[in-house]
Amino acid sequence: MFKKTVVTAIAVAVAFGATACGGSDGDGGGSASGGGDGTITMGFSQVGAESGWRTANTASIQESAEAAGIELQFSDAQGEQENQISAIRSFIQQRVDVIAFSPVVETGWDSVLLEAQRAGIPVILTDRAVDSEDESLYETFLGSDFVEEGKKAGEWAVENWGSQPTFVAELEGTTGAAPAIDRQEGFAEAIEGTDNIEVVASQSGDFTRAGGREVMEALLNSNPEINAVYAHNDDMALGAIEAIEAAGKTPGTDIQIISVDAVRDGMQALADGKINFIVECNPLLGEQLMELAEAVVAGDEVERRVVTEETTFTQEQAIEALPSREY
Ligand code: AHR
Repeated sequence: MFKKTVVTAIAVAVAFGATACGGSDGDGGGSASGGGDGTITMGFSQVGAESGWRTANTASIQESAEAAGIELQFSDAQGEQENQISAIRSFIQQRVDVIAFSPVVETGWDSVLLEAQRAGIPVILTDRAVDSEDESLYETFLGSDFVEEGKKAGEWAVENWGSQPTFVAELEGTTGAAPAIDRQEGFAEAIEGTDNIEVVASQSGDFTRAGGREVMEALLNSNPEINAVYAHNDDMALGAIEAIEAAGKTPGTDIQIISVDAVRDGMQALADGKINFIVECNPLLGEQLMELAEAVVAGDEVERRVVTEETTFTQEQAIEALPSREY
């Protein structure tokens, strides 16, 4: 009845067996396939629509659900954790077969995840992790290694900025979100002990273009020595470019920029020399998510952690990649 997909694409080993779906030690006992006709119903709670990355991620999930024949109940949390918690509660009430979500922030999920577990509904984390001591509250986490992304950004900074005094403005993602916490940690680790690179200001631009512009405007006024930017995503880097140009400076030259994501607009700015280096964060998680959903609903065991494969881009590489860039 179910496609027992062995998810091998990126290090997912699925061992067939009698393992129950997540949380089946509770009292609810979720339905094996909500529709009765074998159709899987997935409740998905998305962070919002804050960035180009997020738009591509939403499209990937919606298209992949349709292609896999999975009925998707999609909910947009508009950046609010309480909206995600309400959406998850509503999925539990509807007795969907599987819940997937990309947590706005890392903490504060245990009680709602416990409710899902007690109802016998497996949960898949996608894109972002939760900070919970109880790993039995979810089946698997599919997404990038954000610390590694921050390290790649920091290593490039050390190599390219380390020989002259560099005063960095860090544009952080949403406060409390896994990619903001981890990208900051990875970057700090990579530049540690480098005399010439100093993060002189660090502030949240909430992963949005408007946020990046606003924060950059303020930082250029308060810290005129800034000659480099590390933005936790392309949208904030693009906002920062607007602020830098409005201040009469040349992005990419007077103020060099490292960013994360590699969405098309960011890649274009890199190709144009306004951004200097981008670490990729791949939003096309839909297909793998549907494969994992099919596996957990079927009661198969899946890898606890599925890491997305990613690369980095210099200007030359961006020029080459742009014509076939999918997002
Ligand atoms: O969680 C992934 C991050 O969230 C992306 O890097 C960013 O653009 C998005 O908003």
